[in-house]
Amino acid sequence: MKKILVTGYNGFIGTLLVKLLKEQGYSVVGLDTGFYGPECALFQADTEKDITILKRDSREATEKDLEDIYAVCHLAALSNDPLGKINSDLTYDINYKASVELARLCKKAGVPKYIYSSSCSLYGKAGDEALSETAEFSPITAYAKSKVMSEQELLPMGDADFCVTSLRNATAYGLSPKLRLDLVVNDLVGWAVVTKKIKIMSDGTPWRPLVHAEDIARAFIAVIEAPTETVNKQAFNVGMDSENFRVKEVAQMVGEVIPGCEIVITGEHGSDSRSYRVDFGKIKKTLPNFKPQWTLKKGIEQVYEGYLKYKMDEEKFNGRYFVRLRQIQHLMDSGLVNSNLYWKK
Ligand SMILES: NC(=O)c1ccc[n+]([C@@H]2O[C@H](COP(=O)([O-])OP(=O)(O)OC[C@H]3O[C@@H](n4cnc5c(N)ncnc54)[C@H](O)[C@@H]3O)[C@@H](O)[C@H]2O)c1
Repeated sequence: MKKILVTGYNGFIGTLLVKLLKEQGYSVVGLDTGFYGPECALFQADTEKDITILKRDSREATEKDLEDIYAVCHLAALSNDPLGKINSDLTYDINYKASVELARLCKKAGVPKYIYSSSCSLYGKAGDEALSETAEFSPITAYAKSKVMSEQELLPMGDADFCVTSLRNATAYGLSPKLRLDLVVNDLVGWAVVTKKIKIMSDGTPWRPLVHAEDIARAFIAVIEAPTETVNKQAFNVGMDSENFRVKEVAQMVGEVIPGCEIVITGEHGSDSRSYRVDFGKIKKTLPNFKPQWTLKKGIEQVYEGYLKYKMDEEKFNGRYFVRLRQIQHLMDSGLVNSNLYWKK
């Protein structure tokens, strides 16, 4: 049974990846520092059942953690743009330096595969043309820059014995035990359920490629299973060509699924400078085992039903548990972690 180490296993995508890996018969080791504990769960799941847990900061991973590991799926990160604003150095330390250091350790320990969770946000501001993996980077935030810097050091590390792949995920949506509301689809459905108003802060024109978090998990598994020569030193956009939308189109679709809502375009954030359409031809062609199962419409329906079932209300919607920046700020303000985001002993 192949052993897979998932860093960030206790997050939005990680919990879904662990579930799929277990279902497919892999043995799983989860490494996570635990910023989003049980209080940050929309619903309880058995993520930790039958896996080995390393409650560890990725900056403190050791070679021993990597014993007998076949592949590392590296998801642990400060996972969005606003988090980079607390202290951009932390975003670089965790998302970039620790990712490269972990890959070095993997190489030393003889781990055959390392799969990095990158992001389409490294394309930053682009026009209406769909961008393939060879497009220029134009990262706008510390978060996006940390993904570019990581890829630039990680991919050249690949060799005959060490396979390195970067998955440039589209913006995720969907239901997960560790829900995130700071993602456009989950957020717009939240507005609709809680206020009956679908509120867009930008002018609604930016392009966003969207993908269900579970399909991102499927992409990781497709890379684990792919022959090394097809994925080594390669970056793949993760999503589907049909799933590029303008934010206002997403809002319209949310309005079609949830009756009686009004779309409000506040425009208070102006024309969001992050806008990119993405070409997903490479992953489709190179990884035929990657079979995404969600479309935006189905995903909106899933999230809507989940919010009704788990009683999404104003308190939850406006609270800290499902918004990464608020939870991290809380951990810092309450002194649970120090200014470098290490837990206080
Ligand atoms: N969700 C998206 O739309 C999206 C899109 C593209 C890329 N990604 C990338 O995928 C990965 C997972 O995203 P997510 O949405 O599940 O994020 P998330 O915030 O829900 O999960 C991240 C997990 O990593 C853990 N973590 C953070 N810093 C850590 C550290 N220093 N040491 C150990 N654990 C740490 C957190 O505790 C959390 O459980 C991230 O690398 C993110 O940048 C996400």
